Parts: sequence; structure tokens; C-alpha cells
Amino acid sequence: MDEVTFTSDTVLSDVHLCTPNQRHLMVRLNSVGQPVFLSQFKFAWNQDSQIDSGTEDVDHRNVPTEETPAGTSSTGSPPGSGHSSVGFSSKASADTIGQDRAGAQLDEDGDLDVVRRPRAASDPNPPWPPRDKVHPMILTQEEEDVLGDEAPDCSFHDTIRIEHTMATPLEDVGKQVWRGALFLADYILFQWDLFQGRTVLELGAGTGFASIVAASVAQTVYCTDVGEDLLAMCQRNIALNSHLTASRGSVIKVRELDWLKDDLCTDPKVPFSWSEEDISDLYSHTTILLAAEVFYDDDLTDALFKTLFRLTHKLKNSCTAILSVEKRLNFTLSHLDITCQAYDHFRASLHQLEKLQDGQVRFVVEPVEASFPQNLMYERIQQLELWRIFVEPVT
Ligand SMILES: C[S@@+](CC[C@H](N)C(=O)[O-])C[C@H]1O[C@@H](n2cnc3c(N)ncnc32)[C@H](O)[C@@H]1O
Repeated sequence: MDEVTFTSDTVLSDVHLCTPNQRHLMVRLNSVGQPVFLSQFKFAWNQDSQIDSGTEDVDHRNVPTEETPAGTSSTGSPPGSGHSSVGFSSKASADTIGQDRAGAQLDEDGDLDVVRRPRAASDPNPPWPPRDKVHPMILTQEEEDVLGDEAPDCSFHDTIRIEHTMATPLEDVGKQVWRGALFLADYILFQWDLFQGRTVLELGAGTGFASIVAASVAQTVYCTDVGEDLLAMCQRNIALNSHLTASRGSVIKVRELDWLKDDLCTDPKVPFSWSEEDISDLYSHTTILLAAEVFYDDDLTDALFKTLFRLTHKLKNSCTAILSVEKRLNFTLSHLDITCQAYDHFRASLHQLEKLQDGQVRFVVEPVEASFPQNLMYERIQQLELWRIFVEPVT
């Protein structure tokens, strides 16, 4: 197999779309026959620099990358290793590092090594697949060594390894890694002291990327989503990244939490169901809720906001919800214009939440400036947004 097939109902995350002709290691087929890939995301730590939120002083040799396995970098320290958030700062520019900029390299003399546009389709011997036939190059396990000469770094302290699928139908989007998860992960690393020792609940966690990063600082993370296949993949990713959490004694619990259901499933026969102890711990200790890239369907957005409302009324403590969203612009026939309906609905839901007055809980919503450092590889486009909701009891 050397191609992923795209059909009209296929969705491909930008994280993979931006590296279309990169080599990807396929490790297995999942239980529904989809190819599963293993990607390695490097953190670009820089212990020596102060928080660099500007565009100046960009060191292209120290940019984060998303790779298939093999080479790792060892430029810094892992999350939760005792350094302050200042210590985790990256020299990578914190605002709009485009894939092109991020991919730029300097040669031995310090000249910019420009990545060339693929040759014209008319070229009889193009060195790579032509642009109009964009697809990831797929490797099988035996071919893994062609990815690089470096042996995998045993410590893995600056990498996170994620199994995921690509080009899924809409109902399986959680099996891909989304830009919003990387954006949220960057924020968690920047605000690591806020997360330290906390109990965190992630809604719609997908592959578990943000939950794993959160667990590198937090005490307990409830990583939730729906679908046995997806939750099993998530559980596997947690095992693949135990190096980031185990030594700190953090725990990640993968549990089913369906926004379309009022209650948490406690049937022990159902995989990823909740025990009474889990539920009691969740309600007693959770102070941070997370959700990345879950606002793409208005009915699901409504269900998620209802879930947020229900849960926050059950939590014993005040809490903060941190949500990442990408404002996706689409041309719609109904409007004959470019709109961002899902995003508009998200914003309206935030507004409604803030206006709610039930005498029990107050919601205060604020946008987060996207000027925190970028430690992971993705295009930090302007349409990526982060929102914080402070939930406090009305006294
Ligand atoms: C676009 S994916 C984002 C996944 C992950 N947060 C990320 O950013 O990589 C949306 C997620 O919402 C989850 N989701 C959709 N409907 C849901 C529901 N009713 N209850 C819980 N999660 C749901 C999907 O399974 C999927 O994991």
C-alpha cells in the first residue's frame, strides 16, 4: 500500500495535509480496517531563552517537527521536570510560523536551504509524486529504518508518539490529530503551573494528544470521548507515552463520556465505563476542563455546552474550561458567500452561557491571546483561537 484514498466524504486533518508527501509509518489496521499510522511529535524546548512571544530571533534550526519515528531531538527538558514555564520557552516564533517557515533549514554555511516546489507535472521523472496527487508515502513496519539513521532516543523526553488514522469519514475524525489539540497542548505547557497537581477532564479527546500533555503536569486526567475503537486507540497512545507521565505518578483514565447522554455509563460490562470511585473523584477534584476542535457541528456543539453546564453544576470546586477552536471559513451555497457557521454557533453558545443566571453558577468567558510560545509543529494560523471559561459558584 502506498496511497491513501480520498473520497468525497473523507476528512483529512491539516496536521497531515501540511506534510502530504512525508513518509508515514503504518503500523496496523484497526478493528474497522482503517490503516493506523504512528507519528512522532517533537517538543522544541529551549531552557536558556526567556519567553519569546515576538517574531524576532527566530532560530530555524530549533523548530518543532512532526515526524514519523526515528530521529529525536534532545534540545531540552520534558514537561514536569521541575523547570518553570519560562524554561519551556521555545525560540520558535509564537505567532504565525507557517509550515514553509518552520520547515526552512540553514545549510552548513548558514545559507537558507529553500525547499523547492515539486517539478512540473510534465517532468517525465519527477523526484516525488506531483502536487496534484498529494498523498502521504506509507511505510510498513519493516521499512521503518529508512526513516532515518538515528536510533530512537531511549528517553523520548521531548517527543510524544501518537497512533492515528488519516483521511477518515466524518464520524471517525477523532482518530486524526487536529491542529487545535497541538495549540491547546502548547498552552498547557505554557501554563504548566496552572495544571500542576490538578485533576483535569478532557471532552472529545480523540487520540488523547492534549490529555497526554496535560498529564505530564497534572495529577489525574480523565480523557474522554465516545466509541470503543477510538477509546482503545487513545488508551494505546497513553501507553506509548508513559515516559511522560509515569515517573511523576500521574494517572490518565480513558473513559466514555457521550455529550448526547445525560449520565456517565457505570455498567462494568461496557468498556471504558466509570466506577463509582471515578465519578466521586471527578466531581470532588476536577478544576480544569479541556476541549480541542470539537465545534464543527451545531448539534454536537449544543450537546457539548449542555454537558459543560451539567458537569460544572456537579463539580465541588470552581473550575476553568479551556477550549480551542479553529474558525473554518467555507463558501456556502445557501449564503452564496464565505461563512464560518460552526464558529458563529460556537461564539453564540459562549455568549448564551455567559448570560445564564440560574443562581448557582456563574460563567465568565474570555479569549486567550495566542501569543504563547509554540513548542509543537503545526501552522499557527490566525483562525486558531483559545477561550477560557471561568466557572464559579454564585455566592
Ligand atoms: C475533530 S475531533 C477532535 C479530537 C481531538 N480533540 C483533537 O483535537 O485532536 C472531534 C472529537 O469529538 C468527539 N465527539 C463527537 N461527538 C461526540 C459525543 N457525542 N460525545 C463525546 N465526544 C464526541 C469525536 O469522537 C472526536 O474525537
